[in-house]
Amino acid sequence: MTHPTLRTVPYLNADLPIPERVADLLGRMTLEEKIGQMLQLDARDDLDDHVLRRSVGSILHTSPERLLRANELTAQTRLRIPLIVGEDCIHGHSFWPGATIYPTQLGMASSWDASLIERVARATAVEVAATGIHWTFSPVLCIARDLRWGRVNETFGEDPFLIGELASAMVRGYQGKGLDDPTAILASAKHFAGYSETQGGRDASEADISRRKLRSWFLPPFERVAREGCRTFMLGYQSTDGVPITINDWLLSDVLRGEWGYTGTLITDWDNVGRMVWEQHVQPDIAHAAAAAVKAGNDMVMNTPTFFEGALDAVAQGLLDENSFDAAVERILTLKFELGLFENPRLPVEAVEQLVGTAAHAELNLEVARRSLVLLENDGTLPLAPAAPGGPLAPATVKRVAVVGPLADDAQEQLGDWAGGSGQAGWLDGQPREMITTVLDGLREIAPWEVVHARGADILTLEPDPRGVTWPDGQPRPPVVSPCAPDADQIAAAVAAAESADAVIAVVGDALGLYGEGRSTATLELIGGQIALLDALIETGKPVIVVLLASKPLVLPASVSRAAAVLWVANPGMQGGRAIAELLTGVTEPTGRLPISFARHAGQQPTYYNQIRGQHGDRYADLTQSPAWAFGEGLSYTTVAYSDLVVEEATLAASDTVVAQVTVTNTGERPTIETVQVYVRDAITSVSWADKELKTYRQVALAPGESARVRLDLPVADCTIVDAAGNRVVEPGEFDLLVGPSSRDEVLLRTGFVVA
Ligand code: NOJ
Repeated sequence: MTHPTLRTVPYLNADLPIPERVADLLGRMTLEEKIGQMLQLDARDDLDDHVLRRSVGSILHTSPERLLRANELTAQTRLRIPLIVGEDCIHGHSFWPGATIYPTQLGMASSWDASLIERVARATAVEVAATGIHWTFSPVLCIARDLRWGRVNETFGEDPFLIGELASAMVRGYQGKGLDDPTAILASAKHFAGYSETQGGRDASEADISRRKLRSWFLPPFERVAREGCRTFMLGYQSTDGVPITINDWLLSDVLRGEWGYTGTLITDWDNVGRMVWEQHVQPDIAHAAAAAVKAGNDMVMNTPTFFEGALDAVAQGLLDENSFDAAVERILTLKFELGLFENPRLPVEAVEQLVGTAAHAELNLEVARRSLVLLENDGTLPLAPAAPGGPLAPATVKRVAVVGPLADDAQEQLGDWAGGSGQAGWLDGQPREMITTVLDGLREIAPWEVVHARGADILTLEPDPRGVTWPDGQPRPPVVSPCAPDADQIAAAVAAAESADAVIAVVGDALGLYGEGRSTATLELIGGQIALLDALIETGKPVIVVLLASKPLVLPASVSRAAAVLWVANPGMQGGRAIAELLTGVTEPTGRLPISFARHAGQQPTYYNQIRGQHGDRYADLTQSPAWAFGEGLSYTTVAYSDLVVEEATLAASDTVVAQVTVTNTGERPTIETVQVYVRDAITSVSWADKELKTYRQVALAPGESARVRLDLPVADCTIVDAAGNRVVEPGEFDLLVGPSSRDEVLLRTGFVVA
């Protein structure tokens, strides 16, 4: 029951319906307060000014201390409208000291396990909510199209169907049972839409993309989470066909609000409104930019402080009416009421220590890290020390292993972008070292052999950009990467360690500075002393296991074709080293499958599997077009055979479901989880279309020798293309149903069906 004195002020009366409370509060707000409510500003700047003068509705990037200060300031405001607090908690609670940091989104995508990812998002929400943060800017639904792009690590990979499955799971995990659940946080589907269609991989460049192409591949994952109730959408930075997304009326009004009926809240990306003036030069001044952004239906404006003055000026000039802000403010206030912030601003809870970075979350983190590792090559060297099921490790013939490479024991690099040490937050340098198990730590803990270590190479140093350390908007300009030269002494020490050992585990990859926002790469090669190191190690003739700790697919040097094994681990999170050690020693099975293809050369871009048919030939004059490792690939320690693919009914109507059966048999001696992938090829389409597309998949646990008959259900309604007019339709005719362990044609079983 609400306190009786509060009943006289309707918006403070929790017994009243939310729309009544919103209407009452809106009626009390001045123009300045409404404009301020639409602003989300950086908590590292002048908080007093944000809250007391600009009446901001939201802050982001706040340290624990400034979070409390911001709330003290809010208590001094006229209407005491609580702040909504946002943060990029994208693979765990990124910048909270001592929080659990999981593998990156791309790493988790390798599990292809939606329910596991939902559990990770749920656990993240519990940590985030306990610390007074209400909104995460996650998940990323961008399709990774060019591996040079710096933000590939933040995506779920290259396939729209897989992205939709995993993003939907993540949104469910974050938002829990509904916003009145104190452990629920708002999810944000980003970056709407087409941001990843870069030019040459360059971040936020103009996305050369037609409406039909957007509808074909970029929009479907967003449509799915919009319809499923993802409460907020974040807009991308880029322009498409000349129009910045922030003011793309077709995308925001016709498609998102109109066709999909989306009622959630839209937030711009960082200074999108200001960028229209100073970067894209499509608005003459901030007043016009603010007016355009409001008219296009943006609700919250991230980090354009001058939106406040610009919007006031726009009203004074007659570009906007005083009531132009009401719809946006209503949506923001509704979220605040639904979260219950007026009754309880959800500040950090007293028991925060018991809820953040818990043992249970570390256990979940280990589980997802195990599932995210993708074994790409293995000549039989792995596992190095097979464990008897349930029994102690048997050290086989291996007595000593050399663990080398610049990433074997670098705790913060292992976590990757959007984590304590990645630089977006100023209040912490990294996550506590003792929470992180590096590959070296993991092997020292569990390997049944002697471990010797040498670093072998450095990767890079970061130099301040000679043009200045900030951009015109005052934001930090990324430093410039300077690759380290190979160091003969370091390499000699690594070679000596290798020669003294029975096998070598070389942990190489990329490093902070080579990925992230504004940090795309022109090349995909290993940089610094790493290629020279690998060449020298492989030259020793010892079996070399390459552990590629890389934010995104990289191109490996030619010498790696003589390595004993290659394992891609992405940025595997705090428990990554433990999970890798378990896999190498055979305590666990490799079950990850690639959510993204690996190129042989940067010049092969794009390498995604679902390319449009029709080109002259199928290769470059000087190189194959085939990727080094393709979407869906990944080895187990066993082998799995596919046979007897049949469809129950081969002629179907558009409203039917294709029901297929396939037998998968574990033909080896170790258990596995097989990812049975189902692709569809539409034989003849009215417009050019992808040669095949993933439509569904099943994960099946198989004991050694076990066979399973797997049923695959595929609604015909999913076998669509987008026609020339932009409509998604099923076109009658013949289809191939392709089932197998990856997207490679040569491993897929084929049967057909006809849509009448
Ligand atoms: C810019 C990034 O593009 C976006 O993904 C992120 O959520 C915001 N900055 C806030 O940090």
